[in-house]
Amino acid sequence: MSYVEDLAPRVGSLPPRAAFASTAWSLSLNGDWKFRLSPTIDAPEPGAVDLDDSDWATLPVPSSWPMHGHGKPSYTNVKYPFPVDPPRVPDENPTGDHRLTFDLPGDRPVGRTVLRFDGVDSHARVWLNGTELGWSTGSRLPVEYEVGHLLRAGANVLAVRVHQWSAASYLEDQDMWWLPGIFRDVTLLHRPDGGLTDFFVHADFEPSESDHTVGTGLLRIDTDVPARLSVPELGITDHPAGEPVDIGCVTGWTAEQPRLYAATLATDTEQVAIRIGFRTVSIVDGVLLVNGRRILLRGVNRHEFHPDLGRVVPEETLRAELLLMKRCHVNAIRTSHYPPDSRMLALADELGFWVVDECDLETHGFGVDGWRRNPSDDPQWTDAYLDRMRRMVERDKNHPSIILWSLGNESGIGVNHGAMAQWTRHRDPSRPIHYEGDHACRHVDVYSRMYASHAEVDAIGRHAEPRHPDADDALDARRRGMPFVLCEYGHAMGNGPGGLLEYRELFERHPRCQGGFIWEWLDHGIRSHTADGREYFRYGGDFGEELHDGNFIVDGLVFPDRTPSPGLVEFAKIIEPVRIGFAGTAPGSRTVRLHSTYDHATLAGAVLRWRVAVDGEQLGAGETPVPPIPAGGSVELALTDLPAPTGAGECWLTVSVESGTDTAWAAAGHVLGDGQTQLAPAHRPVLVAPVAPRAGEVIELGAGRFDPTDGVLRGLGDLSLSGPRLDVWRAPIDNDKPYRADWSAAGLHRMHHRTAEVRATAAGLLVRTRVAAASRDRGLAVQYRWTAHDDLLRVVVSVVPEGEWPFPLPRLGLRLALPAALARVTWFGGGPGEAYADSRQAARIDRFSATVDELQTPYVFPQENGNRTAVRWATLLDDAGHGLRVEGAPTVELTARRWTSERLAAARHTVDLVADDAIHLNLDHAQHGLGSGSCGPAVLPRYELRAEPVTFEVRLRAI
Ligand code: GAL
Repeated sequence: MSYVEDLAPRVGSLPPRAAFASTAWSLSLNGDWKFRLSPTIDAPEPGAVDLDDSDWATLPVPSSWPMHGHGKPSYTNVKYPFPVDPPRVPDENPTGDHRLTFDLPGDRPVGRTVLRFDGVDSHARVWLNGTELGWSTGSRLPVEYEVGHLLRAGANVLAVRVHQWSAASYLEDQDMWWLPGIFRDVTLLHRPDGGLTDFFVHADFEPSESDHTVGTGLLRIDTDVPARLSVPELGITDHPAGEPVDIGCVTGWTAEQPRLYAATLATDTEQVAIRIGFRTVSIVDGVLLVNGRRILLRGVNRHEFHPDLGRVVPEETLRAELLLMKRCHVNAIRTSHYPPDSRMLALADELGFWVVDECDLETHGFGVDGWRRNPSDDPQWTDAYLDRMRRMVERDKNHPSIILWSLGNESGIGVNHGAMAQWTRHRDPSRPIHYEGDHACRHVDVYSRMYASHAEVDAIGRHAEPRHPDADDALDARRRGMPFVLCEYGHAMGNGPGGLLEYRELFERHPRCQGGFIWEWLDHGIRSHTADGREYFRYGGDFGEELHDGNFIVDGLVFPDRTPSPGLVEFAKIIEPVRIGFAGTAPGSRTVRLHSTYDHATLAGAVLRWRVAVDGEQLGAGETPVPPIPAGGSVELALTDLPAPTGAGECWLTVSVESGTDTAWAAAGHVLGDGQTQLAPAHRPVLVAPVAPRAGEVIELGAGRFDPTDGVLRGLGDLSLSGPRLDVWRAPIDNDKPYRADWSAAGLHRMHHRTAEVRATAAGLLVRTRVAAASRDRGLAVQYRWTAHDDLLRVVVSVVPEGEWPFPLPRLGLRLALPAALARVTWFGGGPGEAYADSRQAARIDRFSATVDELQTPYVFPQENGNRTAVRWATLLDDAGHGLRVEGAPTVELTARRWTSERLAAARHTVDLVADDAIHLNLDHAQHGLGSGSCGPAVLPRYELRAEPVTFEVRLRAI
């Protein structure tokens, strides 16, 4: 058996301990290393000092080597990309030898020195100055070697042999790219005699009765050697670290107000700077509390990925993404599915996030064969499981942001989870344990599920969930008494997710349902360029993988370059901290009710801004200070003397609540919540009497010119166009997975329009068609009743389904083609971004403008996108201001793009989309919702677009 098939997690390294920076000497070994990639582990060993590596490549460390042209990335979700035969690994085992020659100054302190690797994927064997130190597995976990005795002044040679595959690969089957490399820091750390090896901060918090944000702190820091603790702000100086200090009044640490106290731990030879956050996590009556109050997790799952660098996430990128989360009101992060770079946890402490720190463990691929030989239930693997948990908990235990330890992800269930939980509980009783795979909740403290439907969450909220088949009465009762979290929900793949509002309602209805984490934060697309330099992102299968899971890797709330997607805009709206409601109908005044959804923080210093606009044109605006609102509380403010609606347009009052002071993540003026109420409806002019058509070579009706053979509109005034015709199809979105087979079998993407009748009447034009797919007998009987009123052309469309339609329709509306020049769009309706029936909370009613190109959302895998909802009217104009005005009666859903739905559906990457010589406009009566069906529940019934008889109206006018 080869050493890479050893079940031992590591050999030759030191016991795990807390990660910390100190005044002791240290040296970063990051930088340019020499690199040689071999296809198997049989390549000559790289450790000898005198080995000639002059013809090796140069590679930055940290790095994922396939991102630098050595080998290729590959992607599988569940499946192992090698035969499942633990602990065996394939002969093809990419092996990256890394060598660094570094100089040590003569004056560096001698004595104990530790060589630390913060992350190597996956099996790392290490030599220093020709001596082999050992090897390790556990890719996202630190490992340290004692090296002081081997270091010398002048040149030193460090060699690291990294094998992509090892027995430990069976424990690292997370849904992500397979990307080997030394992807986190490499550092030499001097350990002075009498210095600290490890410490454990215990900083509990007891809120006061009058104000839960302040209270009493109890501080004790366990250290392995005697040390002195100083916390200047709290008047603590040189206190013996291990002795508890009863601290009078402190401010608690919460994700909303991450109050940290700077402290130092000192020995005679070293000082360590630490930041202490006082907080207590508890479960009381089945509810998860922090500092005595229920928290609601408005969270995301975060992987570590960068579109150019793979697993290496530069510090600026990390900071920018956490700031973006804060600006979007995200308050919780699950570190799916491994402990992150320690910097992320330091930032979470600083900016304020509730963190679920998850162990680097997933054995999902055993599920493919019925979980046979799953390591989770095999005692031969216990050491490996325990080692992973210990390395995470020991490294991360001093971060106040971490409120739950997670045993890992999707690894079935077995004795080794029990061992991990038991060890963790003993080592750190202060944090409850999470693991979704423990469905019976034998080992965990929190009940967790992924992708549970709304109905299931509701049942859980009522403590009425079904009994788990493996649970006896006691175990069943135990689970029913636990807090519940959705560790994954709202699958953000492509367009979506929909249905988030209804989850929020459940989280707010049931005390036990404490929120969850959207799957997931980031699309893991790999940035690429076409030969002519156009940027796009690649996904599974784009690197010639034998097995892959395609675009299932691009399922985030932000695009690979971390640009927010509409899904993030919607999520931010759903979880906004200030909810706004309105009351009153008296002219010129409204009562605005502001409700704070903060769990701990008092909202203070905020400003309410209001604006009254008719058809999007402002009539007046103002602002007023918001009195402090306690967490969970409400206030009412009266707005009086609002301008009176004028003219015939629709009048709206829009209110936003904005922060009054700067925070670490946003300048003052950051919107914490907004809302709208209609002050006056539009007054539609009565249509003048219809004119009669004139039939000839074409049928002329008002400004419209129709083809007498099929009754299709070909021109309007000076405008040539084609359509509108009934359209029922959309380029499937990832979340359409539950419907795709039905839609495709029904031929919705290849409907034929048979003209049944084109008849000029005294008052207009009647066109009847039957829309149906080849080979199927079901169809849609369509009537278009056209009338002309002055220059306005009106069509009333009636659709009657014939035959069985046992599935929803993707869309129902009209499609037309316009000249390509009509690319400037202005609309009054929902915006500014795209919105769909079950994802439209972020759309406000206003007047917006965008080019057709700007209306597109560039989902990495092209699919239906860009719908503007509740559009009252829109104009599509060319640069000279000529074009088309469309009106809904009362509203229409609008999508405009430079390619057809068919071309959109055929595209595999954004660069496949090439503009036609037309603008394709969809004016929909409705579209089916989005749901979360790419991995989770389909569209909620209320947002389904059922095939039912329907009548809708659209008006057209040439401009
Ligand atoms: C879950 C899994 C995630 C991801 C997601 C689908 O089952 O925990 O890692 O695969 O499904 O995108």
